Amino acid sequence: MREVTYYVATSLDGRIADPEGGFDAFPMEGDHMQVLMHEYTDTIPTHLLQRFGLTATRSRFDTVLMGWETYTPALKEGIDSPYQHLRQVIASRQEREVPDGLEVTADPVRRLRELKAEPGQGIWVAGGGRLAGSVLDEIDRLVLKINPIVLGAGIPLFGGIEYSPRTFTRVGWRAFESGTVIAEYERAGAGS
Ligand SMILES: NC(=O)c1ccc[n+]([C@@H]2O[C@H](COP(=O)([O-])OP(=O)(O)OC[C@H]3O[C@@H](n4cnc5c(N)ncnc54)[C@H](OP(=O)(O)O)[C@@H]3O)[C@@H](O)[C@H]2O)c1
Repeated sequence: MREVTYYVATSLDGRIADPEGGFDAFPMEGDHMQVLMHEYTDTIPTHLLQRFGLTATRSRFDTVLMGWETYTPALKEGIDSPYQHLRQVIASRQEREVPDGLEVTADPVRRLRELKAEPGQGIWVAGGGRLAGSVLDEIDRLVLKINPIVLGAGIPLFGGIEYSPRTFTRVGWRAFESGTVIAEYERAGAGS
């Protein structure tokens, strides 16, 4: 079974974006950026890969699942296929037109289970919070880019879920001069 990873930037108070959906408050410079660019190259939008002279190897992820509200900011800028180097699956309950090669699913839990059973590399859950909340029990690994900032309000890391604690085990932790921490967790009991 291949692994599903929710790799996402968050504030100290568990917000992945401000109330309007922006994340300008998250620092985009500093020593943590080297890790994001070179270890998580597969998660960089295709047009930025070209700008930075990077190549996605698909060695970490070959598939991305995102919610419709995570897909639309790029769409508004005229980018209708933001991760051309990955298989792109978008969750929506509406009838949606997407370019050839992209897929829309109204049942992301079922789709993730199907994808997990296929051969391949890791599956990246890109967010947003509502999608992550609805597929929480399919997530095997969390990689949180924790920014040293409290937003006070905004889009939660996991949206639309009831109180129901799930335990994750910390398996990695890196602190940077920039103040950002990359913390990695596996679902407790995963692999046992
Ligand atoms: N900090 C980061 O790393 C990061 C990463 C990703 C996103 N973001 C930010 O997060 C924000 C979006 O998050 P969000 O929570 O508002 O929205 P979202 O999860 O991206 O999208 C929500 C939409 O996805 C669809 N969806 C979600 N769960 C579904 C399910 N179980 N079945 C079918 N469709 C489902 C629905 O689309 P329909 O309404 O079309 O049915 C729903 O309205 C954006 O501002 C984005 O910039 C930040």
